[in-house]
Amino acid sequence: MIKDVLDFLKAQDGFVSGEEISRNLKISRTAVWKHIARLRTEGYLIEAVPHLGYRIISIPDKLLPEEISYQLNTKVIGQSLFYYETLGSTMDTAFELGLKGFPEGTVVFAESQTKGRGRLGRSWFSPKEKGIYLSLLLRPEFLPQEAPKITLMTAVSISEAIKKITGLSVLIKWPNDIVVGGKKLAGILTELDAEADKIKFINIGIGINVNSSKSFLPKESTSLKEEIGTELSRIELAREVLRAIESNYFILKDKGFKPILEKWLASSAILGKRIEISSQNRIICGEAQDIDMDGALLVRQDTGFIERVLSGDVVRIY
Ligand code: BTN
Repeated sequence: MIKDVLDFLKAQDGFVSGEEISRNLKISRTAVWKHIARLRTEGYLIEAVPHLGYRIISIPDKLLPEEISYQLNTKVIGQSLFYYETLGSTMDTAFELGLKGFPEGTVVFAESQTKGRGRLGRSWFSPKEKGIYLSLLLRPEFLPQEAPKITLMTAVSISEAIKKITGLSVLIKWPNDIVVGGKKLAGILTELDAEADKIKFINIGIGINVNSSKSFLPKESTSLKEEIGTELSRIELAREVLRAIESNYFILKDKGFKPILEKWLASSAILGKRIEISSQNRIICGEAQDIDMDGALLVRQDTGFIERVLSGDVVRIY
């Protein structure tokens, strides 16, 4: 009901009286007053003027479920939302929800993480209210070895959302780094609960550096604020990321991997370039030639041998 009050306030051009809210939402005046008090404690600035009523002045830039769901217009992704001020890692919370049977599309947001993690045992710096830290639960009817398709689909979706909100063209560094000017802007971590021939669920962890300042970021990273010169609404970007994932996930399920792969290839930071990849304790050098239909990277070595790389880290691009 608090969301109904909020949405009602947002839909008004000017002031709206407590009586009008109470009549429209069929709740008591006391309930209206209580919801408004609660919204204020959450950081909403709501003006109250005698004889005129209430007016919303500003909303907090917090990834609150009532904000994320406002005009989200998705069918699956983000239909169930969890929000925390701080967590160890959204991955752990989403994994528990996965085990408990929560539906596909469930998203866990945290404003900060004390043990944010990245790929290959790295940590993910998650300062309070500066970035987007989320984990999304999906239940695709895929084989476990098809999981990279989901990671690549997510990378495409994040790039599209960033482009739409900021106009910035970012590149994707295989398999899952979103980069601009060679610096990392966002990362994706995929964790699975699977049997040999079936994914039970997959957790996609997304970290995006949004409003952090250069001095607080790891040396090889950047943020959207640094790239575009102003702070931006994390809420709008988070919503757009969820919308883009829904659209690309449906494409992936209905039309297969090819259209996603084409989008991915168009944004690739490495394709056609000479690269070095660290994979399972060895370095592979060669030209990044293609991505195959499982999402594996094909690297043409100097000998002409084409190596299929399923996981690793691009450490150098020439
Ligand atoms: C990487 O580039 O290595 C992946 C980084 C993934 C970070 C996100 S932040 C939200 C989610 N929770 C985590 O602990 N990690 C992912």
